[in-house]
Amino acid sequence: MQRLKHFVESQQLNRDIIFDLFRHADRFRSQKWVEPILDKKILMTLFYEPSTRTRLSFESAMTRLGGHVLTTENAKEFSSAVKGESIEDTIRVVSSYAHCIVIRHHENGSIKRAAELSKVPVINAGDGSGQHPTQALLDLYTIYKEIGRIRDIKVAMVGDLKNGRTTRSLSYLLGKFPNIQITFISAPNLKMSDDVKTYLARHNVKFDEGSKLGVVLPEVDVVYMTRIQKERMGEKDYKMANGNYIIDESNFNLLKPEARIMHPLPKVGEIKLPVDVEEKDPRVAYFRQAENGLYVRMAVLEHLIRR
Ligand code: CP
Repeated sequence: MQRLKHFVESQQLNRDIIFDLFRHADRFRSQKWVEPILDKKILMTLFYEPSTRTRLSFESAMTRLGGHVLTTENAKEFSSAVKGESIEDTIRVVSSYAHCIVIRHHENGSIKRAAELSKVPVINAGDGSGQHPTQALLDLYTIYKEIGRIRDIKVAMVGDLKNGRTTRSLSYLLGKFPNIQITFISAPNLKMSDDVKTYLARHNVKFDEGSKLGVVLPEVDVVYMTRIQKERMGEKDYKMANGNYIIDESNFNLLKPEARIMHPLPKVGEIKLPVDVEEKDPRVAYFRQAENGLYVRMAVLEHLIRR
């Protein structure tokens, strides 16, 4: 099987690698004690944008695998980026200090450029509105575990599709599987971009653009909600888009009993369900999805670092 050197975009994966990573994620999920296969290896986490799940799950994954974590607190403020150092220069230096580097950066394409200069594997933990491929992988793993298949499924992606690196990366991954239908639902100013639509058309994925969440909810297997990313748009665009699409008690039961609500998190008002529904109703999958990130990232680290 082909092995990746870096993991910077979803298109790098094929079905063989995906299912191999899922097999290892299943292994880690089932183990109480994990063999320290990355003993004496160092993972660097270099985050220029805030994160809860991606950073902490990578750091937990590396620690569980017996390795060590080296990090900088808020790289945008406390690394030499604040003195004007480029990401290219930073990576040429810090890739001597670790065996793998996880980077989140505000600029689209920056992590691909960094990977080209790195001496060690680089993982894209989100580059602006570009991609977030390990999120897409854990999303796909969640679909696989919750729905039981990655074919013949209908998915609605809802919210900020223009700036959403998670929906972009997941669309690219879904394009590798048969008979997938995607409905994109967004405000007119936050539509999915043409590069993703062109890719889907080329890979025979049926997609359309809708505006009525209530019409789509009864038909889909997965509804993938996203936050309107205030930090990536002006006040006018935010006002136009925010609050348009919400899942709450008024429409939640339109979903089929076997359907699932997913969300990369954080959520900030686009899902308003009582805690007891979130805890008990199996259709709420987003907290299990976040947990899956740990096992999938353990599998990714093993794939990239263990030779
Ligand atoms: N889903 C996701 O990327 O979450 P964080 O921003 O908390 O890492």
